Amino acid sequence: MKPRSIGFSTKAIHGRKHFDKHEPADHKPIRSISTPIFMSSTFAFESAEHGAQVFAGKVDDYFYTRMGNPTTAALESEIAYLEGAEMGLAFGSGMAAISHLMFGLVKSGEKLVYSDTVYGGTHMLFGEVCPKYFNIETVHVNGCDLDEVARAVDDRTKMLLIETPANPTLAIIDIAACAEIAHRHNAPLVVDNTFATPYLQNPIEFGADIVVHSATKYLNGHGDVVAGLLVGPKKYLTEVHHEILREVGGIISPFNSWLILRGIRSLPVRMDRHCASAAEIAKYLAFHPKVDRVYYPGLRTHPGYEIAKRQMRDFGGMVAFDIKGGRDAGRVLCNNVNLWTLAVSLGDVDSLLSHPASMTHSTYDDAMLATSGIGPGLIRLSVGLEDVDDLIDDLSQAFKKI
Ligand SMILES: Cc1ncc(COP(=O)(O)O)c(C=O)c1O
Repeated sequence: MKPRSIGFSTKAIHGRKHFDKHEPADHKPIRSISTPIFMSSTFAFESAEHGAQVFAGKVDDYFYTRMGNPTTAALESEIAYLEGAEMGLAFGSGMAAISHLMFGLVKSGEKLVYSDTVYGGTHMLFGEVCPKYFNIETVHVNGCDLDEVARAVDDRTKMLLIETPANPTLAIIDIAACAEIAHRHNAPLVVDNTFATPYLQNPIEFGADIVVHSATKYLNGHGDVVAGLLVGPKKYLTEVHHEILREVGGIISPFNSWLILRGIRSLPVRMDRHCASAAEIAKYLAFHPKVDRVYYPGLRTHPGYEIAKRQMRDFGGMVAFDIKGGRDAGRVLCNNVNLWTLAVSLGDVDSLLSHPASMTHSTYDDAMLATSGIGPGLIRLSVGLEDVDDLIDDLSQAFKKI
């Protein structure tokens, strides 16, 4: 009888493990310019003793991707570096980043204050989910009214969250002033920096403690990933990592970490084009007879212009406007664009257009829409990387159909 050789299944599983020790089979040095993707759920222990040491916390080695992954760690250190923070954490979505942070900072019976013009999902989490399921008191304030912010934040407040520029009205909030208010009560200031990205704004420079990103947007930039990031000091984020992320488990896929690392490499050139085109489109809209009002922090008429100039390096790629004729006129415009895609999300190479009152902010009731300054005919534009003249021509022909 022929001696039994290693079976096909065993070969299929073990035969091609050229990189199991992260060394090629021929031992040539690897100097890859792109971070490798460690698409591995688990990492082998060298011995039973090594495994015991890792579990006892005596050795900090990779062993399971929910607890840590080298590709994700590269992204976490990259975003911390770009934001000037001590540490970074990556999550499966922007909402996972915000909710895990909330779990880590605010306990049952405590209080959270947030600015009222925020992404609709954030409002839903804070306004509905927190009080209903976690006995957390949540108060929303007009973030541009610093007296209102100061009145709401007290010693029971464990987190003040603001979004600036805000989604979708591009309201600009004074980061330094909010940090001062939060710190009077030993509460951390959290800034959602999704719209600006670290290329345009570093909230920590102005006193913020923690920065949140929906990396789904400009950081990745190509409309093919959902992910979230947090950066801040170890004193807050170590606990969020060890006690919340590892156990609640809203981690990012290593492949998505790699895509975002790749996206970040072209962030500056993409942002320069987004900003330049958005500024042109804002000017075009400001003189358009069918437009009531334009919201773009780079226009001198914008109430936050001076603050934006102080805390941002440019004004970003998002523009919003109130169309004359409200919701009905908005619907005609949305249905008649060709180059612009009617879609939520933002920060992609493609130009996107959305109607917040019926889409991203449909979680807001009428009163909340009114206090947040979101009109029924507000249209939000995420200006992409196409030729700006083509984008303007497309809007012009759609306006003519109204
Ligand atoms: C400003 C802002 N923050 C957070 C989020 C939530 O991010 P994600 O969709 O990645 O969960 C969004 C989503 O649109 C957003 O616009």
